[in-house]
Amino acid sequence: MRLGNCHNFHDFRALAKRRLPGPIFDYIDGAADDEATLRQNAASFERCDLVPNVLRGVGAIDLSVTVMGQKLAMPVYCSPTALQRLFHYQGERAVAAAAAKFGTMFGVSSLGTVSLEELRKAYDTPQVYQFYFHKDRALNHAMMQRAKDAGVNVMMLTVDSVTGGNRERDLRTGFSIPFKLTFGGMLQFAIKPMWAANYLTHERFRMPQLDEYVDMSGAMSIGRYFTEMLDPSMNWDDVAEMVRVWSGHFCLKGIMSVADAKRAVDIGCTGIILSNHGGRQLDGSRAAFDQLAEIVDAVGDKIDVMMDGGVRRGTHVLKALSLGAKAVGVGRYYLFPLAAAGQAGVEQALSLMRTEIERDMKLMGCSSISQLSRGNLRFR
Ligand SMILES: Cc1cc2nc3c(=O)[nH]c(=O)nc-3n(C[C@H](O)[C@H](O)[C@H](O)COP(=O)(O)O)c2cc1C
Repeated sequence: MRLGNCHNFHDFRALAKRRLPGPIFDYIDGAADDEATLRQNAASFERCDLVPNVLRGVGAIDLSVTVMGQKLAMPVYCSPTALQRLFHYQGERAVAAAAAKFGTMFGVSSLGTVSLEELRKAYDTPQVYQFYFHKDRALNHAMMQRAKDAGVNVMMLTVDSVTGGNRERDLRTGFSIPFKLTFGGMLQFAIKPMWAANYLTHERFRMPQLDEYVDMSGAMSIGRYFTEMLDPSMNWDDVAEMVRVWSGHFCLKGIMSVADAKRAVDIGCTGIILSNHGGRQLDGSRAAFDQLAEIVDAVGDKIDVMMDGGVRRGTHVLKALSLGAKAVGVGRYYLFPLAAAGQAGVEQALSLMRTEIERDMKLMGCSSISQLSRGNLRFR
C-alpha cells in the first residue's frame, strides 16, 4: 500500500502500521484502560443522522470560520500532540507546513520535538501553544513569556491530564521516553529498519519546549515529568491568574461539564475544547460530541466552543458544527498520515478532509458554515 492508495483515515492508519515499529504505532493508536472512550468517540457520530435540504443553490462553498480571533480557511485544525519527530523525522515541521498550506491552525505540544519559535517564524498560520501547569510558578511564567515573545496566537491549557492515563499497550511494549522497551518491544523495532534509519540519520531527538527547564536526557522520563513537575493541585484561581498574565486568547482543553464551561467564561477564557484527550486519560469519560449540545446551550453565546475526539470524516465535522461547535480538532487523523508519509501525508489528509466537507456541504444544501443548524440533525 502507498500514499496514493490512501483515501481515508483507515487507509492512513494501515499504512502507518506498516511503517512504524509496533510500540510507536500503539502509542498513537492506543488509549486508556479498556479503550472504551476511544471507541465511543468514533461511535458517537454514528448515532446522529444528517437531514439534508436540496435545491438551495450551492455553487460556491465558504468553509471559513473564525475561532478565538483566528480566521481559518477550513473548520478543522491540528490539535497539539506530543513527540511528532518520533513518528516521522519531519515531525511538527510537516504538520505546521501542511496546516499553513490549508490555512488552518496547528497546536504545538509542551512535549513537542521542534521549538515553538522555529515554527512560528517558518509558517504563517495561527499557532497554538499547548501548555501543562507546573508546580513551579516561575517556570509557568517563563514558559508563557517565551511563547508570548515568539508571537504564539493562542494559549491552550490542557486540564484533563493532572496525572497520566493508564495506557496498557505502552506498559506491554515498554514505550516511554527515554525508551525502556521490553524484549518484545525491541523486536518490533528490529523488524522496521527503515524507521530506524530515518530516525538515526536526522537531527537528534529533543523536546525544545522543555529542554531549557527540565533535563529530559537523563533520569527524567515523561512519566516522571508528569508526576514530579506538573501540579495536580492546580485550581481555578491558578488558571485565572494565568489567563490574566497571558492577556490574549486563552482556551482550556479537556472541559466536559457545564459547571466547568461556565467557570472558564467567568475567568476570561475565550475558548474551551470539549475533549477526553482521544480516550487516553479517563476511560469511561463521555464522548465530546455527545456532550456538545449541553455545553453550547449553556455557554455557546459567551465563549468559542470547540471539540475533538473521533473525528475521521467530513460528515463528523458537519455534525459537530451543526450542534454549535465553532471548529473541530483532529489528532490521530493527521498523525497516521504523518507517520505514513511526512508532510505529503498530512497534506493529503487535510486535502481529503477539505474535499469531503465541501462535498458534504453541497449535499446538505449549505454554502456556508453558518447555514448548518440542529434542524439538519436527528439523533437515533
Ligand atoms: C499520540 C498522541 C499524542 C498526544 N499528545 C498530546 C499532548 O501532548 N497534549 C495534549 O493536550 N493532547 C495530546 N493529545 C490529544 C490530542 O490533542 C487530541 O485531544 C486527541 O488526539 C483527539 O482525538 P483523536 O485522536 O481521536 O482525533 C495526543 C493525542 C495522541 C493520539
